[in-house]
Parts: sequence; C-alpha cells; structure tokens
Amino acid sequence: MNQNELKQAVARAAKDYVATHLPAGAILGVGTGSTANCFIDEVAALRERIGGWVASSEATRQRLESHGLRVLDLNEVVARGLSMPIYVDGADEIDAGLSMIKGGGGALMREKIVAAVAETFVCICDQSKRVETLGGFPLPIEVIPMAREHVRRELIRLTGGEPRLREGFITDNGNEILDVHGLAISAPVALEARLEQITGIVCNGLFARRGADVLLLAGSQGVKTCTR
Ligand code: A5P
Repeated sequence: MNQNELKQAVARAAKDYVATHLPAGAILGVGTGSTANCFIDEVAALRERIGGWVASSEATRQRLESHGLRVLDLNEVVARGLSMPIYVDGADEIDAGLSMIKGGGGALMREKIVAAVAETFVCICDQSKRVETLGGFPLPIEVIPMAREHVRRELIRLTGGEPRLREGFITDNGNEILDVHGLAISAPVALEARLEQITGIVCNGLFARRGADVLLLAGSQGVKTCTR
C-alpha cells in the first residue's frame, strides 16, 4: 500500500472507531491535515448519529461544511455544558508514549484547544509517523509576529536547535510559525512545559502533557490500535 492508501485505511478505521465509541447525538472534534481530510470524507456518512462537529482549523471547517455538516462554535459547546467525547486528528510524529509533534499544517493552537476539551484524543497515522525519538520533524512554534526574534533567540538557547521562519505562512490566528530543526526530544513533557514559559510563544507543537489516548496506526499489515 502507498501512503495515500494507508491514510484511507486509517480513516476508515477511525470512522469505525467513532461508530462504535461515540454516543449517539454526541459532538465530534475533527483535526487538520491530509489524514484528517480522508477521515472527514469517511465519517460524513455518520451524520445522522453525530450531534455536531467542532473544527480545529478554517480548512477543516470548510471541508466539513462542504459535506453539509453543521460546525459548532467551541465556546458555545463548552458554555452549554456539552461534552466532546472524541477528537480525531493526525500527527507529524508520534512516539511509543503517544506524545506527538503536530502543526505541520500550521493549525497547532486550535488543535491543542480542541484536544484540551475532548475526552479522548484518537490519533490517526500511517506508519511513517511512528518514531523512537521526537524531533526529526521540525517542531512548529506559533509566535506573535513582534516577538519572533526574541523567541528565536530563546529557542536557540533552550534547545540548541535551528528555528526557521515558515516563509509566507500566517496561522488562522494571525501569527507566524518558527520551525525548529535539528532536535532530538528525550523529555517531551518537560520541553513542552518549558516552551510554554517563553513570552511571545502562542503555542508549541509538542502534544505530550495531553498526548493521544488511542493511536490507530496504518501499516502494510493493516491498522493497529495502541493505547497509552
Ligand atoms: C496540522 O497542523 C497538523 O498538526 C496535522 O495534524 C499534521 O501535520 C498531520 O498532517 P498530515 O495528516 O497531512 O500528515
């Protein structure tokens, strides 16, 4: 199977997971990226039993709406005391403890927010994303534009990596992204916490404190389910 076929396979497995585990009428959180797009195209078939959809980016909102699905405002969901039992999203890298690097598509902040609200984070990946040590994929850092050079200097001091501006890219929140190259992240929870202390960083792409709860991993032998 090629990578695209693996993405389709894991998207179908995620749809089955949702059909089995999401209570009828409940809200589903939906991630961003090419794997998440495959998932949207599959899970749209469950529209009758899903009570509402929460999008982690403008691109995802548009794709959901293209299927005629009703996208809810997250503030309204939380304010009404509604629960979001499941959030399904891809990752750029995932390790054995189900910590992830995310944000290759630039949606890290909204993804982290939706993940924080959801009860269960289901990560959907093909086997190329599974790594022993995070950091081979450059770590995305969303920054307030006026803080970019301050943040760049702090990132070099803290990580020894090489932050590079993602040229010509502005996030849904109006910010810039520095991608930090050359990392080998041995303590993802600690690094995530340390990055959160740097003034000017809006969000870092480490999803470790709130990592995935379930991983659906597509490989040549089929889709494997892993839990923390
Ligand atoms: C979006 O900002 C990312 O976090 C994506 O979830 C991640 O980049 C995975 O994308 P693909 O499924 O396209 O590889």
